[in-house]
Amino acid sequence: MLQAIKYNQGHLEILDQLQLPFVEKYILIQTAEDGWHAIKDMKVRGAPAIAIVAMLALASELHSLQSAGQLPEALTETRELILKKLDYLVTSRPTAVNLSDAARKLEALLTSQAALPGVTSQNLVTTFIDAAENMLGKDLEDNQRIGHNGAEWILAHATQSGAPNVSVLTHCNTGSLATSGYGTALGVIRSLESKKVLRHAYCTETRPYNQGSRLTAFELVHDNIPATLITDSMAAALLADPSVGVNAIVVGADRVAANGDTANKIGTYGLAVLARHHGVKFLVAAPLTTIDLATKSGSDIVIEQRSASEVTQIKGPREGVDSGSVTLETIRIAAPGINVWNPAFDITPAALIDGIITEVGVVEKDATGQFHMTVLFNDLTPRA
Ligand code: MRU
Repeated sequence: MLQAIKYNQGHLEILDQLQLPFVEKYILIQTAEDGWHAIKDMKVRGAPAIAIVAMLALASELHSLQSAGQLPEALTETRELILKKLDYLVTSRPTAVNLSDAARKLEALLTSQAALPGVTSQNLVTTFIDAAENMLGKDLEDNQRIGHNGAEWILAHATQSGAPNVSVLTHCNTGSLATSGYGTALGVIRSLESKKVLRHAYCTETRPYNQGSRLTAFELVHDNIPATLITDSMAAALLADPSVGVNAIVVGADRVAANGDTANKIGTYGLAVLARHHGVKFLVAAPLTTIDLATKSGSDIVIEQRSASEVTQIKGPREGVDSGSVTLETIRIAAPGINVWNPAFDITPAALIDGIITEVGVVEKDATGQFHMTVLFNDLTPRA
C-alpha cells in the first residue's frame, strides 16, 4: 500500500502529490509553516490526510524546540504558542472539517492538562506530540473498519439480485494518499477486492485537479485492483449501460453536516443525481472526524474557491519522456481571457444519499427521510 505520510519521532515526510503519478518524491516537513504550505499548495490533500499532516507538522516543530531546549519556561506561554500555531494551521484550507476538528480536540486536551497542578511546559508539549502521533494510527484503524462496514453494506444491498460480485464507481481520491492509509471510499473498494467480490472499480478523472486520474488510478494500478478510468462526463453513460452494471457509487467527504448533507469534491453532487435516476446506491464513506454536528446543513459549509489556472491549465510530463527524470510541463487548455468558476467542492443533499459509512457502522435515513448522525457518537470510546 502507498504511504503518503511517513513519521518517526519528530521526523515528518510527505509524498509530494503535485508530482504524482510521475515522480514519487518525499519532502521534509519540519514546522507548522511547512505543513501549512504543503496543505495550501495541495502537496498533501484529502480531508483526513491534511488534518494529520497539520498536527504532525506542529508536533515536529515542538519536538525540535524541545530537543534544542528552546521551549518557553512558562506554561501559559507554551500553551499560547501551540494554540496560535493551531489557529494558523486551520486557515490553510476551509472546507474539510477534519483539520479544525483535530485542532479543537488537541486544544481541549491542552487546556484541560494545563489546568492540572504541577504541569510543566515540557509535559504540555509531550502531551501534544503523543496525541498528534496517535491520530496517525487511529485513522488507519478507522479506515479499515470503514472499508469492512461499507463492503458488507454493499454486498447486503447490491447482491440481492443474485449477482455474486459487485462493481463500484468512485470519485476523487479517497485512498492511502488522502488518509493515513487504506482509505475511506477507496478502502471500501479495497475491502471488496480482498473479499474477492469486486467485479470492477471505475474511477472518474475528477476535473479540474484530476485527483482521480492522477492519484486514484495510480493507487488502483499500484495495488492491482481491477479498474477503469472514465472522464467525469462519462458517468451517466456508464450507469446506463446494463453490461457494466454499476451497483454502487461510493465517495469520500470533506464535511458531513448534522442533517447528512455532504461536502465533497466538485462533481459528487452530479453523481448522486445520476445514481438516483438510475436506481444505483449512493454512499458516503467518512470517519467520524469528518462528521460535523455543529454544522446544521450543507448551506452552512464554506466552499473553497480555487485558482482559475486549475481549470485553464494542465500539468504533466511530455509524452514519451522517461518518468524517472521528468520535468513537469504546464499546458494551457482554455481560451485566454475566459472567466473561470472553480469551486473545489459541492454539496450533495442528504436526500440523495443512501448511507453514510463510518468506522462505527453505516447510518441510514429513518422512515421520514432523516439521518440521525448523533447515534454514531453514542457508543464512542474516548478519542485521542
Ligand atoms: O481538494 P482535495 O483533493 O483535498 O479534495 C479531496 C476530496 O474531496 C476527497 O474526496 C475527500 O477529502 C475525502 S478524502 C478521504
